[in-house]
Amino acid sequence: MADLSLHDLVKTYDKTQVLHGIDLHIEDGEFVVFVGPSGCGKSTTLRIIAGLEEATSGEIRIGGRVVNNLEPKERDIAMVFQNYAIYPHMTVRKNIGFGLRSSKLPRADKDARIDEVAAILGMTDLLSRKPSQLSGGQRQRVAIGRAMVRDPAVFLFDEPLSNLDAQLRTQMRLEIKKLHQRVGTTIVFVTHDQVEAMTMADRIVIMKDGRIQQVGTPSEVYHKPANTFVARFIGAPAMNMLPGEAQAGGVAVTGGGTVPVDVALPAGRPILVGVRPEDLTPGAEGAALVEGRLTVREPLGHETLIYVDTGAGELIAKADGRVPPEVGSTVRLTAPPDTLHLFDAETGEALA
Ligand SMILES: Nc1ncnc2c1ncn2[C@@H]1O[C@H](COP(=O)(O)OP(=O)(O)O)[C@@H](O)[C@H]1O
Ligand SMILES: [Mg+2]
Repeated sequence: MADLSLHDLVKTYDKTQVLHGIDLHIEDGEFVVFVGPSGCGKSTTLRIIAGLEEATSGEIRIGGRVVNNLEPKERDIAMVFQNYAIYPHMTVRKNIGFGLRSSKLPRADKDARIDEVAAILGMTDLLSRKPSQLSGGQRQRVAIGRAMVRDPAVFLFDEPLSNLDAQLRTQMRLEIKKLHQRVGTTIVFVTHDQVEAMTMADRIVIMKDGRIQQVGTPSEVYHKPANTFVARFIGAPAMNMLPGEAQAGGVAVTGGGTVPVDVALPAGRPILVGVRPEDLTPGAEGAALVEGRLTVREPLGHETLIYVDTGAGELIAKADGRVPPEVGSTVRLTAPPDTLHLFDAETGEALA
């Protein structure tokens, strides 16, 4: 077990800089998920931690030890990739044992270690099978077993669930989370899927264009997004962004009402008012934030999402699942003031 820290990590390929100074400390035993759109530098960061790629500058420490100049196998890490290769001609036992190929442990100790890992993964009865006799989820577990068998200080996962179908993905994400709760090893997990990040992580690192946008618990990044990028990346459907302008005592939403604000803002400053669909509901009472015409309904059973054309753009709101308003009707949308998020429209940064 070990903590992991990245200090001012920079990576440049030829002339293109893809990581612009990544600073992060991951606690011993923590489950940290890197999330961000394709190409933002998640895999590059992970590969640098693993030693498969060299940092242009910056420092990587695992368990307090600087590992920049260590070979991957000297770093006490194990990595599971999206395209994990398990060998079709080898049994599950041999495939898991492959993780120990360079180990100098005696044969009997290796076997004992494989048995232990198989037991943790619930695969004891499958050890003599070949991969073709396994389900997709079991094959995935073999790949994880191969990484676990070395008892690394840190596990690195690079989108290991992306090739699985939706149901299996949900199942494996739960299994990996349970596995972490049992073994307690530090995990760095990369995904482009914000639901995976939210459901699995102790802390989420949200990246964009080679820069960290925010680091926080799932609750922090959801309820206190640092900027409009994080606000719209985390949560589905995405947060609505209503354009507005600061005025004395509040923010006037374009084509809508005025939102009271307790911070002093220079009058005329362009503001975005963020409101999550679940906080925006049709209501007869109170001052409407905006109103508009309902264009589309998406019934989900327990609730209905409604699309409303307003002076502040097309907004997504949540209506009752049983008796949602009719398409074509005019709806007044309200949101509790404490659910609103304010952002500087020019920088995208959240206002305190
Ligand atoms: N070997 C390479 N040579 C040049 N550019 C690369 C190389 N590997 C990755 N990149 C670029 O670095 C950026 C980050 O890539 P990557 O870390 O794979 O993103 P992610 O995993 O977040 O999708 C991308 O723009 C990608 O095209
Ligand atoms: Mg990647």
